[in-house]
Amino acid sequence: MKIVILGASGVCGRELVKQALARGHEVTAAARPTSGYQAPEGAALVRGSVFDGAFLEETFRGHDVVMSALGLRLPGLSPFAKPEVPDLLSRASPIIVEAMRSAGVGRLIAISAGGVGDSYAWMPAVFKAFIKTTALRKAYAELEVMERVLFASGLDVCCCRPTGLSDEPATGEARVVTKVSGRAMIPRADVAAWMLDAIEAPTFAERCPVITVTGGG
Ligand SMILES: NC(=O)c1ccc[n+]([C@@H]2O[C@H](COP(=O)([O-])OP(=O)(O)OC[C@H]3O[C@@H](n4cnc5c(N)ncnc54)[C@H](OP(=O)(O)O)[C@@H]3O)[C@@H](O)[C@H]2O)c1
Repeated sequence: MKIVILGASGVCGRELVKQALARGHEVTAAARPTSGYQAPEGAALVRGSVFDGAFLEETFRGHDVVMSALGLRLPGLSPFAKPEVPDLLSRASPIIVEAMRSAGVGRLIAISAGGVGDSYAWMPAVFKAFIKTTALRKAYAELEVMERVLFASGLDVCCCRPTGLSDEPATGEARVVTKVSGRAMIPRADVAAWMLDAIEAPTFAERCPVITVTGGG
């Protein structure tokens, strides 16, 4: 498959690039112009802004699927912490959708988060309080808008909602859950593997699954 990975320089993005190459996919890794990211051998690296529709359209053309690991860069979790680009996802999502339509690419999978949308109700009380009282509030509001825009696009979209991310090695045990309790965590390597499994299937089994390794109900 020919895959574009947005946010390739992030921790999940790097995992996606690495694992997609290992599975034999053709990978185009997209990073910001200012990023020092170097893609691994075998991946094509493109640099440009996710707010630049022409850049995205040109990047997407000829690919089968777009995978997004974009997310707000938070300087900390203080309630006063200001994300570097606070409207990243609400601004970029419509541009990504339009560029996909123009380039004739119909499928996208993006990383959202456990606790976004209806999954908020399934989160432990401590985590709900954490979302409400820290800089995560802004990040979650952006993810809500991203999901709304992507799902309204008419494209074939999956927004997976991982629980807390860790840098532990892959377990191969990522699963979809409808209840979350205790310390729910998932290694980034498992998120990447789960997303690649999802795009390798002919259709997305679910639109916005919560995925985790620990703490699932
Ligand atoms: N942390 C958690 O426990 C958790 C749990 C559930 C879901 N999530 C979601 O998962 C996402 C991915 O996690 P991660 O650890 O891989 O995040 P990360 O390492 O912070 O990666 C974020 C990616 O977004 C890119 N980005 C940020 N601002 C941008 C901008 N203005 N223009 C273009 N690209 C921009 C970054 O590019 P640069 O490298 O150039 O900055 C990077 O590639 C998070 O952002 C969050 O939304 C996180």
